[in-house]
Amino acid sequence: MNQNKFWKTRSEKYNNLKWVNDDSYIRAFIRAGGFKKTDLVLDVGTGTGVIVHAISPLVKEVIGLDVSRDMLEHSNWKDNKYFIRRDIRESIFHISKRI
Ligand SMILES: C[S@@+](CC[C@H](N)C(=O)[O-])C[C@H]1O[C@@H](n2cnc3c(N)ncnc32)[C@H](O)[C@@H]1O
Repeated sequence: MNQNKFWKTRSEKYNNLKWVNDDSYIRAFIRAGGFKKTDLVLDVGTGTGVIVHAISPLVKEVIGLDVSRDMLEHSNWKDNKYFIRRDIRESIFHISKRI
């Protein structure tokens, strides 16, 4: 099964997974992240944006990046939440000057 098909299948029930609906997991993730209101966060492999949703009230801006259109279609767009469909293996940052 190719990657697109795999994540299309998983996207259909992803938001019903136990951990997605388990506050204790999300709270532990937030504690570990130590997020601040000045932070700009890139969530690579964001999937349905579970983490983006959880941390968006705590940071300045958060962007969810994912290669799967199907996973992203199960996310919600709101305020400072942005989603980008991209493969992280492709270069998305340009280095203007090497130090
Ligand atoms: C197990 S899901 C995790 C989703 C989310 N981080 C979470 O914790 O709910 C992994 C995600 O990584 C994405 N992914 C896998 N390879 C990727 C790549 N090369 N670039 C961007 N996203 C990728 C998949 O499409 C999938 O949505």
